[in-house]
Amino acid sequence: MQQFRKIGVLTSGGDAPGMNAVVRAIARKADKQGVKTVGIIGGYNGLINEKLIDLTPGAVSNIITNGGTMLYSDRCLEFKTPEGMAKAIETCRKNEIDAIIAIGGDGTFRGATDLAVHGIPTIGVTGTIDNDITATDYTVGFDTAMNTVVEILDKLRDTCESHARCNVVEVMGRDCGQIALRAGIAAGAMAVAIPELPFDEAKTIERISAAKKKAKRGMLVVVSEGVFVTDENGKKVPYGEVLQKKIESETGIETKFARLAHIVRGGTPSLRDRLTASQMGVKALDLILEGKSNLVVIEEDSKITSMEIVFSQMTDRMYKGKLQDGDLDQFSAEEIKLMEEICEKRRAEIAELYTLVNDLAR
Ligand code: F6P
Repeated sequence: MQQFRKIGVLTSGGDAPGMNAVVRAIARKADKQGVKTVGIIGGYNGLINEKLIDLTPGAVSNIITNGGTMLYSDRCLEFKTPEGMAKAIETCRKNEIDAIIAIGGDGTFRGATDLAVHGIPTIGVTGTIDNDITATDYTVGFDTAMNTVVEILDKLRDTCESHARCNVVEVMGRDCGQIALRAGIAAGAMAVAIPELPFDEAKTIERISAAKKKAKRGMLVVVSEGVFVTDENGKKVPYGEVLQKKIESETGIETKFARLAHIVRGGTPSLRDRLTASQMGVKALDLILEGKSNLVVIEEDSKITSMEIVFSQMTDRMYKGKLQDGDLDQFSAEEIKLMEEICEKRRAEIAELYTLVNDLAR
């Protein structure tokens, strides 16, 4: 079995509550196994520019409660160049870093596979509030983000109720409606618009008008940031503000708009995120010590397990209808079937939740 001298840990892409708990789990479990860990500061940028800190067990004390990432994060273009990659490999060689655990989303794993191609074993851990990695049931940060949204929606409901107003709230999620959908249900929204499914605007306005007639006062509508419409000048514009204006003009209800933006990404991680992060961190470390590479740690049917990064990436492309010629050539018929099943599972999940919003809203 390979002797590991040091394992590098980085966080990249958008930060997510619980990333620190992953870092802590890796550092502590590695220490138990007699392996050193170093934190790479600022994602792949830190690897290129040799910005490292020792992750001793003490260095990760008390971080489990902190949002954000103690290792900081960056979206790094230089890493995609041969020069950037050469510098990153040199940092690993010079600092005796034998393997890397990369915590983040889709872009993070693309970087991870590139490193693995250049001989640095790499394991990914899913950390993004969006829960948009098709192959995993869960990504670290998702629960905290949803709870943050619900907390804010509850506050907005209070004031909407007092003033008999409607509030359209745009929430993060890139091109995935998971946060909007689940938080919307939990906050009792009148409707939720997500990029995955067509939104029935007329029905929503009808529903809001009907509720007004029954003397309902406070109303909330949640729109995922990934929903766009084309305006009269042919420009793609976010749907939330457009819908706010339509609701106000067509129902006569004073309607406000709120964009939660990055507020959704901060804050103390929830129990769910701390726990899953700890389990995923340990799993990633175990995989590295078993000599594995190019895998991503995922949650499947409440179990922490792993799959090939490339399988996860192609499942994502399949789900988003972005497969290119040749993408599936390396996979067997059974593997492709499995990808299709995963995509179907996600679609069914979304469709079921979407029906729930509309069945319950009055
Ligand atoms: O991927 C996480 C996420 O917060 C998305 O929900 C959002 O679209 C994006 O990152 C925002 O990125 P940035 O922090 O670069 O503005």
